[in-house]
Formats: sequence, C-alpha cells, structure tokens
Amino acid sequence: MLNFDYSNKTRIVFGKGTETQVGSLVKPYAEKILLHYGGGSIKKSGLYDRVAASLRESGVSFVELGGVQPNPRLSLIHQGIELCRREGIGFILAVGGGSVIDSAKAIAMGVPYDGDVWDFFATGKPIETALPVATILTLPATGSEASDGTVVTNEEAQLKLPYGDVILRPVFSIMNPELYFTLPENQVANGVCDMMSHIMERYFTNTTHTDVTDGLCESVLRTIMSNARILKRDHTNYDAWAEIALAGTVAHNGLLGLGREEDWGCHNMEHELSAIYDVAHGAGLAVVTPAWMRHIYKEHLPIFVQFAVNVMGVGGGLRDLEAVALEGIRRLQAFFTEMGQPSTLAGLGIDSRHLAQMAYKATHWPDGSPKPLGGLKKLSEQDALAVYQLAL
Ligand code: NZQ
Ligand code: ZN
Repeated sequence: MLNFDYSNKTRIVFGKGTETQVGSLVKPYAEKILLHYGGGSIKKSGLYDRVAASLRESGVSFVELGGVQPNPRLSLIHQGIELCRREGIGFILAVGGGSVIDSAKAIAMGVPYDGDVWDFFATGKPIETALPVATILTLPATGSEASDGTVVTNEEAQLKLPYGDVILRPVFSIMNPELYFTLPENQVANGVCDMMSHIMERYFTNTTHTDVTDGLCESVLRTIMSNARILKRDHTNYDAWAEIALAGTVAHNGLLGLGREEDWGCHNMEHELSAIYDVAHGAGLAVVTPAWMRHIYKEHLPIFVQFAVNVMGVGGGLRDLEAVALEGIRRLQAFFTEMGQPSTLAGLGIDSRHLAQMAYKATHWPDGSPKPLGGLKKLSEQDALAVYQLAL
C-alpha cells in the first residue's frame, strides 16, 4: 500500500425530501448566491420551485444562470464568472448533474483569478483559492458532488480537459434518490457506466497489499450492477436508487483509491471522444473500457483474473487464466449492452477519421509536451491508437 493523506470535507445530506433543507444549509455561508442549473429538467420536475422556496424562506437571495449543456462549455463559464463579479456573489449552488456541478466549480475557480480560468485546465497549474460550491445532485453518475474534480469543454479549441484540487470539493451535497425517478433510461445507463469506470480506474493497479480497497471496489461494483438491473425493470424503486446514488458518491470521493496508484487511461481517452463528437461520457466509457482491457490484459493477468472471479462471477477452473480474464471482460461488455450502451465507436457514430488525432491529444498537453496516460500500463500514443482501433 502507498502512503496517502486523505480528507473529504463534503457534507452529504441524503434521503427523501432533503432538498427542502437547502436554504438553511446555505444560510451560514452566504445571503446571496448564484443558482446554477442546466437545460430545464429541474423546472419540469418542480425541483426549481422547491429550491427557490427554501432559499427564500431562509432569507437567501439568488441570481440565476441556467443553460449548462452536457459536456459543460467554457463560454457559459466565462459568463458565470462575469455575473458573479458584477453581482458580488461569493457562493454557488449547483442544481443538476455532473455538467452543472463541474460548470459551477470552474466558475468558482475563475472568479478570484485575474487571468482566463482555462489556464488551469490547459497547464494543470495549482489554484490558490475558489468560491465555495454546494450541490443538489439530480443525476448519480460522475461523483462530482463529492469529488475534487471538474471537466470542462473548450468548444472553440475542441478540447475537453479535467482539473482537480481538494479546494473544489463541494461544502455540502444534497442527495434525494426520489429526484432520480425522472431520469431517462439512457442517462441511467450513462451514470452506471461512469460510476463503474471510476471504480475500475482505481481497481486496476500495480500496487499490491490493497486488500481493503480491493474488497470495497469489488463490493461496490457488484452492488451497482445488481441495483441497475432492478432499475431496468422498476424505474422508481427508491431503495435501488439509494444504493446507486451512494455507490456513485463512494466511487469517486477518493476513498476507493486510498494507497493505490490509479489509472485514468480510459477516462482520458474517452474525453477525446466527447471533445470532438460531444458523446455522453458514460456511453464513451462503455465502449473504450472493454477495448482497453483487451489491449492490455495479457500483460496483467492476475488483476484481470481477480476481477473476472470476484466481480463478474466467473466460476470453474483456473487452469486457463487467459480464458478466465477474457470471460470477465466479455461479461462486463455484456452488462453494458444490457444497460443499452453501444459496444463500438461505430455505435457512437464515430469512424476512423480522427483516431490518430485523438491518440495524439490523449498523450499530449495542448502545448505539445508529452502527457502521461494510464497507470496499470503506461500508454504510449501507439497504445492509445490501438485501443481506439480495437473499439472501432
Ligand atoms: O440539463 P438538464 O435539463 O438538467 O438535463 C440533464 C442533461 O440533459 C439531464 N438530467 C439531469 N438530471 C435529470 C435529468 N433529466 C431528468 N431528470 C433528472 N433528474 O441529464 C442530461 C445529462 O446531464 P449531465 O450533467 O451532462 O450528465 P452527467 O452527470 O453524466 O455529467 C457528465 C459530465 O461530467 C463529467 C463528464 O466528463 C461530463 O462532462 N465528469 C465529471 C467528473 C467530476 N467532476 O469528478 C468525473 C467524471 O469522470 C466525468 O468526467
Ligand atoms: Zn467519469
């Protein structure tokens, strides 16, 4: 196990009706806030009205900025930064999925910074401070409600880049599983694939003596799959949503990566798909992950065998380890298909035209300097291209 230093300041207020507490939870931080949201699902569901009422009851006034698109755009973040400065706002409440939360985090980074907030994403340089952000999560998927990360799309440059710092963890997040009943099926599938990927990016490691986190990863992965299957036939099953929601937070709040080298190769290769083709992050991961596994499993058989047996339930003899590992990968892909995800890049509407460009971007910073990719296997530009070709 590697050394680590872990803290997570995000207070999670979880359960039925919890969104009505938002006013009293915000009040100790600010009397005037930015209310940030997406394309309108919160108005349709009535959540917007409940949030506005709770804020008013607690004497918290708000300025609002809606319109966050999936794969949140830098241009709206620039508008949000200007708005906060003009209105003297020092606190942001994000009500939505990962895109809204990430947009809020980027605005929070940009308000106290003199230059363009994109500098942080393009160079990875550290932030000194950021406005506090809180969330009401409407889509369990990204884990952004308790993560230190944000992922932003610079639409002009066709770049989608992540940024992380513990300062960005929300101060609180409200999670009511009933809010997820209105999610369309494809977003459920995207969310499930994303949270599973967050665990697999940590699980597949060269670090040894990680029994505690191995076991946690395996248990949370199995829990996600079994409850996602319940939701497939019973979309408003509160208990299944509660399991999925908690799993999504645990998957990406840092706990499951303690003491382990993490990977993140699939995430970074997926971001290149989203940057050019604007595909949903979870759908992209469902295609890239099995291809990445097939590209590297022979060099790392023990962890792929452990995954096949402990997570995917592959039984029988262990004399042909390659066959066991491959069966685990096949079952993972079959689960993604069962959720309704495509299994190839072609299924996402992507052809071979930009594969070489994406492999280059996945392994280089915007200034052209080399960017490391992957952990279990350090991936070269050629490796990334091979993964994309396998996925095609
Ligand atoms: O915009 P609205 O109208 O709200 O509709 C959204 C959007 O169209 C809809 N939706 C959300 N909650 C709903 C709902 N529809 C009905 N009922 C509800 N309760 O769902 C659509 C997708 O929303 P989005 O926020 O884009 O999805 P998700 O939560 O999957 O976020 C994806 C983004 O997060 C990034 C991804 O790269 C992607 O840009 N990630 C962020 C991470 C982080 N900050 O830690 C980690 C992840 O790995 C990921 O990269
Ligand atoms: Zn993700």
